Order: sequence, then structure tokens, then C-alpha cells
Amino acid sequence: MKGRFITLEGGEGSGKSTAIESIQAWLEAREISYIMTREPGGTPLAEDIRQLILHSREERVSDLTELLLVFAARAQHIAEKIQPALANGLWVISDRFLDSSYVYQGNARGGDKTMIDTLASWVVAESQPDVTLLLDVSVEVGQQRVVQRQQQDRLDKESLAFHEKVRQGFLARAKQEPNRVKIIDASQSIDAVKNDIATQLDQLAIAWQIGSVQ
Ligand SMILES: Nc1ncnc2c1ncn2[C@@H]1O[C@H](COP(=O)(O)OP(=O)(O)O)[C@@H](O)[C@H]1O
Ligand SMILES: [Mg+2]
Repeated sequence: MKGRFITLEGGEGSGKSTAIESIQAWLEAREISYIMTREPGGTPLAEDIRQLILHSREERVSDLTELLLVFAARAQHIAEKIQPALANGLWVISDRFLDSSYVYQGNARGGDKTMIDTLASWVVAESQPDVTLLLDVSVEVGQQRVVQRQQQDRLDKESLAFHEKVRQGFLARAKQEPNRVKIIDASQSIDAVKNDIATQLDQLAIAWQIGSVQ
């Protein structure tokens, strides 16, 4: 049986990396085989492209260059990691995926949505996530959580207005595709967030007819 594809989305400090732990625990309790991955990146070449995208540099990075690099990394990630895993029956959990392109390169940078649609139809095609967990938290709280981070990358350093566009962009996508995108209130405590994620996964397991754990 083909595996399921779950993506995590949300702004910086929304708790995506933290949430992955609870998904991992949920999958292990059900003895579901899976891989964890992330974007931009996920394969050696795609991780090299990630460095190109996120590394702070003197030279201005044109919006189109950023968009194409993100999709170049994604093409490699899908072909060499995501598709082979799903075909082997593994579940794939990705920290960020296509929604981030619509939101960062589209809503926040002002990129043309039609162009992103075209790239998505070309690069992602049928490899759409089965479900997306959107961790939603205010920009202020998200930023407070990441201030301790040693390394701020090129996108972390964007303005508050940029990050607000990111948040609103994600919420708009959830509104457009409520069946796929599940909003998690990430302003709650870590335990409460993990609990909400487990509840969402339990509901999906029922819909997908996966046995429950005793
Ligand atoms: N619900 C939460 N409440 C308080 N702190 C949190 C919560 N979720 C995550 N954190 C903390 O905030 C920081 C950023 O979380 P992280 O999972 O790395 O976010 P992201 O991967 O979305 O950028 C980490 O130090 C993490 O421990
Ligand atoms: Mg993270």
C-alpha cells in the first residue's frame, strides 16, 4: 500500500520542529514505517540548494531566483526521496512543502500566484500532501520563541510585516483547502499542541481506516 504524505507548515517559531516529535511518537505507537524530511532540502543536492537559498549574502537575491531555487530543490526532493518512499509504503512527514512557496515567495514576496501554480503543476503534480498541519501563532510569539536561535538565516531576518504576510497567507490557504489543511492553535503550551496534533492524526486514521492502538 502506498504511504501517506503529511506536511507541516507555519511561520518561524510556530513549533514545526517540536511538533515532529509528537507525530513520530504517534506513528511509532502504530508501527507505521515513515521518513522525516524537510524543505528546502531533504536530499544532499536539495540541501546544497537550501544553503544557496538561506545563506545571508551581500548580493541581492532576485525573487525569481529564490522561487526557482526552491522549486529546483523540490523537484529533486520529490523524485529522489518522497516518491520512492511513498511507493515503498512509507509515510513521509515533511517540515515545510509547497504551501511555503505560495506563502513566502507568493504572499510575502509578492510573487505571481499563476507562476507558482504553473511551477507546482510541473514539479509537484500528483505529489500533493494528503494532509497539512498548519501551526498558527502570532508573529510576536513566534519571533519571541526564535530570538534565542544563534543563526538567523536570510528569511528569518525579514521584517515583521513580511512575517505577518506569511501568517495571513497560510491562513488563507487553510480557508481555501479546509479538507487538506488543518489549523493547529500553536499559541498553546507544547503539551496542548502535541495533544491537538495527536487528535487530528487519530481522526485521519479513522478516515484512512488505520487500526487504533489499545
Ligand atoms: N507551544 C509552544 N510553547 C512554547 N514554546 C514552544 C512551543 N512550541 C515550540 N516552542 C519553542 O519555540 C522554539 C521554536 O520552536 P520550533 O519547533 O523550532 O519552531 P519552528 O520549527 O516552527 O521554527 C523552540 O525553542 C521550542 O522549544
Ligand atoms: Mg524548524
